[in-house]
Amino acid sequence: MTNEFSLSTGPITFPPEFGWGVATASYQIEGAVKADGRGQSIWDTFSHLPGKILDGTNGDRASDHYNLWRQDVDQLADLGVRYYRFSLAWPRIQPDGRGPANQKGLDFYKRLTQRLLDKGIIPWVTLYHWDLPQALEDAGGWPSRDTAQRLADFGELAFAALGDQVDHWTTLNEPYCTAFLGYADGEHAPGRQEPAAALAAMHHLLLGHGLTIERWAAARRSGQELGITLNFSPPLAPEDSDTPEVRDAIRRYDAIANRAFLNPLVRGEYPADLVQDLAPLTDFGFVREGDMALIAQPMDALGVNYYNRLAVLGVDPAVDRFAPGHANVGAADVVTGNRGRPVTGRNWPVDPEGLIWLTKWLTDNYDLPPLWVTENGSAWEDRIAPDGAVHDPARVAFLEAHARAIRKILDLGIDLRGYFVWTPWDNFEWAFGESSRFGLVYVDYETQQRTEKDSFHWYKALAASGSIPDDQSEA
Ligand code: FCB
Repeated sequence: MTNEFSLSTGPITFPPEFGWGVATASYQIEGAVKADGRGQSIWDTFSHLPGKILDGTNGDRASDHYNLWRQDVDQLADLGVRYYRFSLAWPRIQPDGRGPANQKGLDFYKRLTQRLLDKGIIPWVTLYHWDLPQALEDAGGWPSRDTAQRLADFGELAFAALGDQVDHWTTLNEPYCTAFLGYADGEHAPGRQEPAAALAAMHHLLLGHGLTIERWAAARRSGQELGITLNFSPPLAPEDSDTPEVRDAIRRYDAIANRAFLNPLVRGEYPADLVQDLAPLTDFGFVREGDMALIAQPMDALGVNYYNRLAVLGVDPAVDRFAPGHANVGAADVVTGNRGRPVTGRNWPVDPEGLIWLTKWLTDNYDLPPLWVTENGSAWEDRIAPDGAVHDPARVAFLEAHARAIRKILDLGIDLRGYFVWTPWDNFEWAFGESSRFGLVYVDYETQQRTEKDSFHWYKALAASGSIPDDQSEA
């Protein structure tokens, strides 16, 4: 995995049909966690546990989007994006994760969707972006097979209510994070550190996807597109060591981080090497007859979330590869790091070429529907400057570099349809709380005052013109 791509520096233009957008998630922006009959989610529980969130905040207020949605949609219209990707808070719609819909919860999303349509913005719905109703976790959570059925019921209900307004439907956001950060690493809700249970969660998430796609496919109108969003972490080889041990570490890391979800979805089977790697922990007895065919049903879109690429530096012999408290089950001993790249405020390497590499790897190796970059963005130490503005040249440079990567991907003939920036408004960034700002708009959480950052204006110009005039990243 060494091939690199160079990015152009001159003016570039994008095809007019290319879809610029932005993305959010319910728990991260909505706040109003007790409004209108909303139930409790695992993130409400988890974020209130001492020590779980870096800055001690929780999602109770977040960006107060549940109350400010009108002005927020107006701001999206001003930004000029064609797509707005958002998720449905399961506990607003089914407070306990099962049974009839809470009409007030559905009404919120109907109003939101209608206003988007009125403003000429295409809504893109993610059914599940991590806020599992607590009652379902109490019944076993994702390691329990029943949760897959519950997701499909929720999906059917949401589709029946919003299907006439929404053409783009995604089942899950980053099931890797749900399974492995939630149940193996424990950094995310529900905070369990049970590697074997995390593997059952992996399968039940995929099954829930398959069952939901089956219901949606039966109910869809023509023109409606169904899919899933996965996150990918393409491993870079270390610079100086090419040993069998390192090669095996790269393979194991890639198996759990990238192929564990993709292969079942696209090829209808778990990677053989992954099954072998995980044999000490599971016999995959959670896979029942018919599951894999359900999981591998055709899709119309694959969402790709890309933030960075890490180098596999080696293995730590002191760490058991199945040790609880590590996300990458079977590869807990693999040591990753940054290979000489500048980093964001979150210490993530800035690696736009990695996105080119990733989309090429995907389309070279898998038979895929059209791709969409459903998330990409960066967090920095943003501040309101004395002139009242928020100057974020590093975010502008990050976005420009990734837009140039997109141009290159299109030049390679890869069927990539759109690119969504994470995220319009600063929001509750999971275990980092309010301390990690990814927004194009600065949010003062005390006053809920929104201030457009320089990057907002930069992205607005890109969305309006479909072009980048000149390389501004060096400026
Ligand atoms: C992704 C999540 C999204 C956001 C970004 C920064 O993994 O899907 O909710 O937290 O990271």
